[in-house]
Amino acid sequence: MTASSYQHLLADMTLQEKISQLVQLAGPFFKGSTETGHITGPMAEMPITENHIINAGSVLGVSGAAEVRSIQKKHLEQNRLGIPLLFMADIIHGYKTIFPVPLAIGCSWDLKLAKRSAEIAARESSVSGVHVTFAPMVDLVRDPRWGRVMESTGEDSYLNSAFGRAFVEGFQGNDLTNNLESVAACVKHFAAYGAAEGGRDYNTVDMSERELRESYLPAYKAALDAGCEMVMTAFNTVDGIPATGNKELMRDLLREEWGFDGVLISDWGAVKELIPHGVAENEKEAALKALTAGVDIEMMTECYVQHLESLVAEGLLKIELIDEAVLRILALKEKLGLFENPFRGADIELEKEIVGHADHRQAAKELAAKSTVLLKNNKQTLPLDKQAKVALIGPFAESNDLLGPWSALGAREEAVTLRQAFEQIRPVNTFTVAEGSSIDQVSKEQIAQALAAAADADVVVMALGESSNMSGEACSRTNIQLPAPQIELLQAVAALKKPVVTILFNGRPLDITNVVSHSDAVLEAWFPGSEGGNALVDLLFGEINPSGKLSMSFPSNVGQVPVYYNHFNTGRPKGAPDAQVHYVSQYLDAPNKPLFPFGFGLSYTHFNYEELKLSSVELSPGSSIQATITVTNSGDVSGEEIVQLYIRDIAGEIVRPMKELKDFARLALAPGESKEISFSITEEQLRYHHKDLSFKSDPGAFELFIGSSSEHTFSQSFILLKEGGQSK
Ligand code: BGC
Repeated sequence: MTASSYQHLLADMTLQEKISQLVQLAGPFFKGSTETGHITGPMAEMPITENHIINAGSVLGVSGAAEVRSIQKKHLEQNRLGIPLLFMADIIHGYKTIFPVPLAIGCSWDLKLAKRSAEIAARESSVSGVHVTFAPMVDLVRDPRWGRVMESTGEDSYLNSAFGRAFVEGFQGNDLTNNLESVAACVKHFAAYGAAEGGRDYNTVDMSERELRESYLPAYKAALDAGCEMVMTAFNTVDGIPATGNKELMRDLLREEWGFDGVLISDWGAVKELIPHGVAENEKEAALKALTAGVDIEMMTECYVQHLESLVAEGLLKIELIDEAVLRILALKEKLGLFENPFRGADIELEKEIVGHADHRQAAKELAAKSTVLLKNNKQTLPLDKQAKVALIGPFAESNDLLGPWSALGAREEAVTLRQAFEQIRPVNTFTVAEGSSIDQVSKEQIAQALAAAADADVVVMALGESSNMSGEACSRTNIQLPAPQIELLQAVAALKKPVVTILFNGRPLDITNVVSHSDAVLEAWFPGSEGGNALVDLLFGEINPSGKLSMSFPSNVGQVPVYYNHFNTGRPKGAPDAQVHYVSQYLDAPNKPLFPFGFGLSYTHFNYEELKLSSVELSPGSSIQATITVTNSGDVSGEEIVQLYIRDIAGEIVRPMKELKDFARLALAPGESKEISFSITEEQLRYHHKDLSFKSDPGAFELFIGSSSEHTFSQSFILLKEGGQSK
């Protein structure tokens, strides 16, 4: 079908049929082979008629080849024009094979594996009937109180952009029409949802347009430049206007300026939420505002269904706006090949073969291992001696709550727990297991059992953390420490003075000051997914060397939040050579620096950095200079190092961050091996948004840093010459 044939189809559609295309309903409205249709709760109150369902445009949250095929078949039998349904779902970090949560994937800095994880998620979900996934989420996150930081790859816009691209490429592949193992991606939440005030979910976002463009928008743009087919709005306000009714964001920026012509969908219920936000008095006004501002599909509320028709009849809404939205939806259906093959990838037989395939589990294990960050390793406590007697203690010792929020069809009982992974590779008499405490409760008996389990062990592995329902949507916290009972347990065990290795399972950076002080080694495992236990046991015993680096800072105290590496300097920086003792920018009771900075992560080996060289100390626009450094593995095991390149503009028109990530590379080094790595620096990398929002660089002095984290770097200075070769 061509664009002109959509026009044809459009010409045949009644206004009600058109409006129905703009409505997304959840599975319970549709009756499939397994009687999905069973509407309860607030959904039962929705004024949705049989007619709306017959004409509906898309379905939310249904998967399974048989179910999808059955719903689609019935739909096509009833739908007058034979327009197929689009099936959308939240396939965020895997479908059945669950990968680590996105924040963990961010810590892998491994774009290839990230892309692979999305390819696998697409493969498994497409064969199960899904056409569109509500991913990637690329919201920039700086506040770990916000429960949804686990859905993002972290606090850096360059890194988030790189991962956004990788995920889109992985989900969509090169040919959505013919590659039945792909799904369309939907980047979210547009825009700046990650900056919710106080880290409280759904809360206000307010920032300058300059900062919005500089830090928050690039990752959405990167996903769209990679061909992302859809965009989802955000729940928050941006500069006083809810994103879902924000014409400047959607029509002016997204459509006009960026040229996006794909489908825009509201977040769940966000059109109707324009009322409590306080920009619409009723549903009718909410519908008018959302559609006028650019929302094509209303997810899960009825403002469009109920009011668009009368808005058109009363001349308040131009029919052209509805037509454009319908055309975009039809175009996506066509691109997915649904007019020719409405069942697309949904294949009952293949589904059994592909979903949860062993190769997919292997990829999940690899990514879980690469996403784990070694935060502390005193006296080489890790890796463990293969003969060591281990006590495995804590609520995660045998918990299968390893998948994290948004795990689609991931079955907890199919996740490999730490205990199971130990059992697979270790004789039973070499380890003991005790729960020690639950997530948020501990008893004297539990502690006594834990101490007994630890009694004749050589080393204790504490498996602690947050349960998966403590992070994710609507799970903001003001206390970001581990629940107190787990600290009590850790302290009791640490008092035995045996070596203590703590593995943390959590969805946000936590204040782990008191975990670190009572542990000899700390591994941040996040929610590692289906293969978590296997990956962790390989890391514990040194079969795999940890190589993850934090993509979000760990505060040393919740009062520091937001604490992120690419902050501005102040006029009174702490620690400057002429800094006073008192009147400087600091806290009286805590350091300024986070406990663990962005980019930080240890290895079982050691990497030496030497000789940072620049090919020239002058950079002319249109040319490049090379920054070269030699990295040596000076330890006695192989390892991978993520070498990071940062730049600081010393004096700009606008204050520039202390450091900004501009490039990175993963280097694999055998013991004793050295490699020289070169990064190219060009004028384009030095551009930023000026006061008038122009995107350009400032000639003058720059500092370049290369190192193993945002804090551990070597530096050199260079000058960006003006066009024509003069210095500033
Ligand atoms: C979330 C989105 C999600 C949508 C559909 C909303 O509550 O904010 O991220 O895609 O639900 O499930």
